Amino acid sequence: MTLHPSAATLGEEARETSAWGLLKRVSRDLSRYRVQVALVALSIVAYTLTGIATPYTLGIIIDNYILKGNLPGLATMSLIYLLLLLGQWASMTANTYYIQTVGQLYLRDLRNKIFSKLQRLSMKFFTSRRIGDLVSATINDTSTLNDVLVSGILSVLGHLLSLVGVVAIMIYINPVMTAVALANVPLLIFIARTYGRRLKEAHRVVRKKVAESTMLVEESIAGISTIKAFGMDERVLRIFNTVSNETSRAFVGVAKLMGLFWPFMDLTVTLSVILVLAFGGYLVSVGAASIGVVVAFIQYVNRLARPITQFVNMYDSLQAALAAAERIYAVLDSEEVEREGIGAVELKNLRGEIELKNVTFSYVPGRPVLKNVNIHVRPGEVVAVVGSTGAGKTTLVNLIMRFYDPDEGQVLIDGIDVKKVKLGSLRRAVSYVPQETYLFPGTIMDNIKLGKPGASDEEVIAVCKELGIHEFIERMPDGYMTDAGEMGKKLSTGEKQLIAIARAMLRDPAVVILDEALSSIDVVTEAMLRGAMKKLMEGRTGIIIAHRLSTAKDCDRIIVIEDGEVIEEGTHDELMNARSRYHELYKNMTRTITTALLNPPK
Ligand code: CTP
Ligand code: MG
Repeated sequence: MTLHPSAATLGEEARETSAWGLLKRVSRDLSRYRVQVALVALSIVAYTLTGIATPYTLGIIIDNYILKGNLPGLATMSLIYLLLLLGQWASMTANTYYIQTVGQLYLRDLRNKIFSKLQRLSMKFFTSRRIGDLVSATINDTSTLNDVLVSGILSVLGHLLSLVGVVAIMIYINPVMTAVALANVPLLIFIARTYGRRLKEAHRVVRKKVAESTMLVEESIAGISTIKAFGMDERVLRIFNTVSNETSRAFVGVAKLMGLFWPFMDLTVTLSVILVLAFGGYLVSVGAASIGVVVAFIQYVNRLARPITQFVNMYDSLQAALAAAERIYAVLDSEEVEREGIGAVELKNLRGEIELKNVTFSYVPGRPVLKNVNIHVRPGEVVAVVGSTGAGKTTLVNLIMRFYDPDEGQVLIDGIDVKKVKLGSLRRAVSYVPQETYLFPGTIMDNIKLGKPGASDEEVIAVCKELGIHEFIERMPDGYMTDAGEMGKKLSTGEKQLIAIARAMLRDPAVVILDEALSSIDVVTEAMLRGAMKKLMEGRTGIIIAHRLSTAKDCDRIIVIEDGEVIEEGTHDELMNARSRYHELYKNMTRTITTALLNPPK
């Protein structure tokens, strides 16, 4: 399973350039936290300076004070040495603290940016992505990016500076001994590189397995009722166990490599120390160096290993960061297709005329779902749209709401192209009850109020009374205060639809679009609701998508869509007389009900 094919298929070269662009982008973002970054820089400089000074001071203490028996001076020097150590300790603490501060600020802003972007992206974007990927981009990828690019790079910069500083002071003290001390560095780099590559692969496997198991949990919770109904529990469990095993094996794989890596590095460093001791001992014996210099060099050599290994770790995790960054920037750079043009107009005092002119649309290029559709809904008219499953009814609404833009043709509201209308005003003017009702966690009252933020309880109750569902809601356990549960899970589908209709009506919209909004409501409630709706629809334009033709019958006009084309339109009577497709649909429906009634399930 490849989760992120875009990241996987990108060549090294493409990555290099994007890495560079990425660094520039990150540093541009970081410049916003100037003060904190300056504190990081300051602590890095302090750390480097104290790091250089401590071994040097130790060398002086040994040569000039201990070996020469200068005891009063030794006390002062020891104090200085202690202060330097404290300074080193303090600057390291400050460094860690400020790097985290910068990182978390950056992380917070990035997360907010992605989230607000997600809210503005077109529907097309969401249908082409897996939800898990998006969640991962918002939460996991941002923290990976922070760990590596922000914290990682800042600390590597610190290490780089101390590396340069240490080598410089070593050369200053004794160039020949520096050459000996550094003789081992190629070996160090070789080990680090070799392990870096293996670690990179091992980390990749870990990430893949973690993503797989997360996805499995997500999907199995979302599909829990299907899983239970089809008795798939055992199978899902088995799949999970397998993935779970693979995940822990992958983690152990990484641990094994790491466990080998550090002792190897230690060994190499020890080798350098021995070289310094041997060569330094020789220099001391011939009087070409002092004992203090040898001791200082041993300390310096120990200080070299850390920065070098840091670079190697950096190389490895940079890969992860790049993949994460690619996904994050893919989200951030996605086009907001539903942007309004410059000079978009505010819809005011809408008459409620809707027109689709020669509209052709496809979700997947080359497979049109709507073909040259022409529909004209006059202000105040209530039109039913019927047609078989997959005919393109919901797609029609998607275009009117401007969730998508047509490939060809125009969608007009009051004669204005919806592309030239302020999106907010379009969506305020048109109340839409989607096919899949979504209720947010909260009470029924809260959920209805979402239709018109700031509405009073009285307004909500008035609308429900008009719709004739007030008594029905009052009968629920806590009336309007009944908890709808997560995604409205505690309510039946029909109940959810009633609430969604109330939510739409509370808006007092010029245009009402119902997509199968009555499909799960029983026939009696539906009949009652139809009467109430008729009253509520007065003076409004309505587009009502219906599988149940009893709903369609009442409308001013009926449009039949088949296979993305308008094939018939007219009133119920006209279409019935014409012995049309509508007639066929209608007849079939009555027949199905009759057959069902005649042959009740045993
Ligand atoms: N479709 C698609 N990509 C989407 C949504 C829909 O390719 N993101 C396709 C569907 O597979 C279908 C066609 O577009 O073949 C029309 O879908 P839709 O307008 O949703 O059909 P409806 O007429 O609304 O069908 P139903 O009665 O089942 O709601
Ligand atoms: Mg539909």
